[in-house]
Amino acid sequence: MPALRQARVSDHGTIVECVQRWWGDSRTPEQARELSLLLPRLFLQFFSGTSLVLEDGTDIRAFLIGFYAADNATEAYIHFVGVDPKLRGQGMARSLYTAFFQRAAEEGRTVVRAVTSPTNAGSVTFHRAMGFSLESGDSEADGLPVHTDYDGPGQDRVCFYQRIAP
Ligand SMILES: CC(C)(COP(=O)(O)OP(=O)(O)OC[C@H]1O[C@@H](n2cnc3c(N)ncnc32)[C@H](O)[C@@H]1OP(=O)(O)O)[C@@H](O)C(=O)NCCC(=O)NCCS
Repeated sequence: MPALRQARVSDHGTIVECVQRWWGDSRTPEQARELSLLLPRLFLQFFSGTSLVLEDGTDIRAFLIGFYAADNATEAYIHFVGVDPKLRGQGMARSLYTAFFQRAAEEGRTVVRAVTSPTNAGSVTFHRAMGFSLESGDSEADGLPVHTDYDGPGQDRVCFYQRIAP
C-alpha cells in the first residue's frame, strides 16, 4: 500500500494531471479536462490540511480532497476522490476515507457528507460500502433518491451522509 500523507499546495499540478490521465481512457480529453476543473488550486491552497494523498515513491496513486465546514462545527465534506485505475479495487479509497473520518472525528466533526451524480453507479456502490446513507430526494432514478438540479440546471445529485464516532 502506498504511503498516506497530508496533501500539499505543491500537489495541485500533479493531481490535475492525474485526473486528466486517469480519466483519459473512459472520457474524451475534453471531458477529462472538464473534470479536472472541479479541482481548482483553491482546494489545495485552503484545504491541503484536510486533504490526503497515497504516494508510491514520488508518484501520487490516489487522493482525497476534503474539508471541514466553515459554517458549522459539526460537518466535514469529501469533495473529490480519485484512484489510479491500475490500483482500483485494492482498498485505496477505503484507506483514504478511513483516515479522513478519523482525523475529522478527532477535530470534533460528527457528520461527513459527499455527493455524486446519479449516473455514477460505481461511486454510489462505493459510498454505500463505506457506510454512507443516501438522503431522501425530490425524485428517483434507478431506485436512487435524487436531488434534482442540486448543482444547477440539469445537475442532479445523490447526497450521502454518515455519522462518525467522536
Ligand atoms: C470509486 C473509487 C474512488 C473507488 O476506489 P477503490 O480504491 O477502487 O475502492 P476500494 O478498493 O477502497 O473499495 C472500497 C469498497 O467500495 C467498493 N467499490 C469501490 N469501487 C466500486 C465500484 N466501481 N463498483 C462497485 N463497488 C465498488 C469495493 O467493492 C469495496 O467494498 P468492500 O470493502 O465492502 O469490499 C474509484 O473507483 C475511482 O477513482 N473511481 C472514479 C472516480 C469516482 O467515481 N469518484 C467518486 C466521486 S468523486
